Amino acid sequence: MSRWFYLNMALLCLAVWNVAASSSFPALRLTVLFGFLGLLFVLFNWTRHAVFSTIRNSRERRRKIRFANLSKRVLPYHRWTGTMALLLILTHAGFVLVRYGFYWQNGKMATGVLAAIVLAAVVVTGWMRLYRPSGRKRKIHLFLGMSLFFLIAAHLLF
Ligand code: HEM
Repeated sequence: MSRWFYLNMALLCLAVWNVAASSSFPALRLTVLFGFLGLLFVLFNWTRHAVFSTIRNSRERRRKIRFANLSKRVLPYHRWTGTMALLLILTHAGFVLVRYGFYWQNGKMATGVLAAIVLAAVVVTGWMRLYRPSGRKRKIHLFLGMSLFFLIAAHLLF
């Protein structure tokens, strides 16, 4: 199993922990609810990377085939789940701005804005690959996805 499965699981646990620790829990503020939903969509797509890593590193043919089929089944939804993640996160940011205003000095806001910019870039490069695929675009898309993972982790830790 790729280490990305465990890292994704750890990020999800961190998010669930933060959500459960939020002051209004079990009722969720709209800011928190949309942030969490957006994260679920991001993680759903990023898990494809974990699946690919497992295919590459596995020596077992049957396992490779099983994971390749799984990945093929979700492929038609990949761009749409990514786009949906962006819409949810923009809504999250909208609710945050209305509720708290904006302060660069606040770590949660600064990391959130950086993550949202990178998420937008991930979505744009994802759509660009549909029309003109190239190895360079694939690498950029992947690099941005990886940066997004760590920015979200920082956002949750602040
Ligand atoms: C990919 C982008 C983003 C993801 C996945 C994300 C995810 C989340 C999640 C899961 C929470 C709830 C857990 C917690 O409080 O730590 C949260 C809270 C928060 N986020 Fe984001 N976020 C993103 C972008 C943004 C942006 C762009 C902003 C700022 C404009 C922002 C500001 C905040 C603030 C202030 C909170 C605390 C809300 C509260 O407690 O009422 N986030 N975010």
